[in-house]
Amino acid sequence: MSSRAFTDYIDHIGDRTGMFLTVAAHTGARRALYPGSYLDLTPSYALPDVTYLDSDARARKAFADPAALALAGRHRRYPQDPAITFVPGDYTRTLRELPAAEWDLAISLYAGPVSEHATRCLKPGGWLLVNNSHADAGLARLNPAYRLAAAIHHRASRCRLLTDNLDHYLQPKTPPHPTREQLHTTSRGIAYTRPATAYLFQRVAQA
Ligand SMILES: C[S@@+](CC[C@H](N)C(=O)[O-])C[C@H]1O[C@@H](n2cnc3c(N)ncnc32)[C@H](O)[C@@H]1O
Repeated sequence: MSSRAFTDYIDHIGDRTGMFLTVAAHTGARRALYPGSYLDLTPSYALPDVTYLDSDARARKAFADPAALALAGRHRRYPQDPAITFVPGDYTRTLRELPAAEWDLAISLYAGPVSEHATRCLKPGGWLLVNNSHADAGLARLNPAYRLAAAIHHRASRCRLLTDNLDHYLQPKTPPHPTREQLHTTSRGIAYTRPATAYLFQRVAQA
């Protein structure tokens, strides 16, 4: 095995380094948690300490290879050596076994209802980067543990993080907004009037 598994995957999905750098700069986050990461190593290009979780054996095998750390080290945009941890298994179970309130940022991209399972691992005031695939942005919108803090538009290498007029985002094209139960049943993001690539939520203190 080599770093090829990661670079092929990142070429396939599109490099999101710019988005992670923008989020790191805005939030000051250093430790991130990425449930359902598969082979998306790019958070480690922007953030010095990332914990990846996935149930897929190919991800477990790739992250066990020293090539993962070496690749992150070559691409890192921070001074220190990268720290990478991989937790195998189903995140609905493994996230319950991780320390509470330890991470600055949780990442939820195309991997199911991560927002609900990762909350306890986030520090109060910690951040959630989430997209609308698998309905997780909608679940975060309905979750009193989170408040919307920014909308992110990322295309090619350009990333804009917007904090104004946030009430224009996450408004369903066809109201009313589905309930949590409905979103769990479909596991599909609904259409919003003003879509963004991803959304940044902040964990509210007493949730
Ligand atoms: C479509 S891929 C997305 C990978 C990556 N987040 C990205 O954006 O490129 C979804 C990944 O989530 C993982 N996944 C989905 N549900 C999971 C669960 N409950 N526990 C662990 N991994 C899960 C799958 O194994 C798969 O690797």
